[in-house]
Amino acid sequence: MNFIQVNESSMANHKQIGLAVVGCGVVGRMRATLAKDYPGIGWIGLSDINEKVGRKLKDDINADYFTTDFRELIARPEVNAVVVATSTFRHVEPTLAAVERGLPLLIEKPLATDARQSAQVLAAIKKANVDAVLGYTQRFRRRFLAVKQRVDSGQIGEITAAVTRAFMNRMAPFGEMRLTQDRRFLTPMVVSGTHSLDMCLWIMGDAQPVSVYARSIDRVMGEHGTKDATFGVFEMNNGAIWSMNICWSLPKEWPGAVYGLEIGIVGTKGVVDIEDTHRDVVLVSEFDQGPAYRPDGLNLQTARHVEFLTSFPPGDVYGGELWGPMREETNSWFSRICLGKKTPHATAEEGHRNLMLTMAMDLSAKRRKEIALPIDPEELMAGLEE
Ligand SMILES: NC(=O)c1ccc[n+]([C@@H]2O[C@H](COP(=O)([O-])OP(=O)(O)OC[C@H]3O[C@@H](n4cnc5c(N)ncnc54)[C@H](O)[C@@H]3O)[C@@H](O)[C@H]2O)c1
Repeated sequence: MNFIQVNESSMANHKQIGLAVVGCGVVGRMRATLAKDYPGIGWIGLSDINEKVGRKLKDDINADYFTTDFRELIARPEVNAVVVATSTFRHVEPTLAAVERGLPLLIEKPLATDARQSAQVLAAIKKANVDAVLGYTQRFRRRFLAVKQRVDSGQIGEITAAVTRAFMNRMAPFGEMRLTQDRRFLTPMVVSGTHSLDMCLWIMGDAQPVSVYARSIDRVMGEHGTKDATFGVFEMNNGAIWSMNICWSLPKEWPGAVYGLEIGIVGTKGVVDIEDTHRDVVLVSEFDQGPAYRPDGLNLQTARHVEFLTSFPPGDVYGGELWGPMREETNSWFSRICLGKKTPHATAEEGHRNLMLTMAMDLSAKRRKEIALPIDPEELMAGLEE
């Protein structure tokens, strides 16, 4: 169960990466900075429509190229791998441009914010036989990998019931909303619940949801065009039940930087209970710790004197470097390309599935009815848009 397997690729197969990073905000900056230190990377090009943000990153990491036009970047002959780290509702176009060139991709979640577009992107990826993975960064944490290994090897038997609870303060939704007035699909499930939904489904393995029943509330965030919380119950094709719940309207002062999670998974032979709220490392200071998430253009006044350390999902900075899951995830994606290694990244299929399920929860909450799954993307969007 715990044997370490050796990668079979020979040194002769090692590939040098020419990396394009599209979107130079918080996440693009992290990934590009890690690329700078990865020995298998020979060239880094950047693109952002915000020239100030992009040029600053180019100078900071001494990148080889910058343009405000992602098409120009992706067409460069040096480029043989692409990171799409644009704003949540701007993933589709750069993804399709990279797919057209047949380049491997690391795409931030979600695959799209429209289920029809997500289906088109997935179809294009499959047709071009491109290796495209999604940024479900939490899969790269030791605790979740350990759980996955035990569950896969049958230590809790057949899964019968699961419960997921994600709690977030209001800073992430405000970060998402700063860039668009069209917030219909910037819901707690589509933007953030997708991380815990992916985690629970990944651990649960092959079971497929056959229906979902959900409810939402928008008492606090309704005036900003989104919701406070969505809670739902899925039924799986093996009869298992799974309760998936997220609330992202906790006060800005809540000590969790972004995400606090609890997952319980019960099987016929055992149980796994994951406490991931980060209440185990608490900092209290006379100084305001400010927001952990600081994208360009987001100015939130806070007074956060208590903080659950290590609760910022990508990781934490020490000595000017990022340590944590996004480092593991990004470097292991580079190894996937350079060495052909198998990695636990979410596939494009899983990314599309996650969007469909998060939107199905939104549709169920809207209709106040159970939704049978799988649902056609056209039918799903027609229901959400009516
Ligand atoms: N994996 C994770 O843990 C994680 C964490 C936070 C955010 N995210 C995701 O990463 C993505 C980026 O988030 P962020 O926090 O970096 O946001 P951000 O606003 O800091 O950065 C996004 C950047 O994309 C740029 N951009 C938008 N459209 C573009 C285009 N057409 N071409 C080039 N650049 C364009 C914007 O100007 C901005 O600089 C989002 O999809 C978000 O959901 C993932």
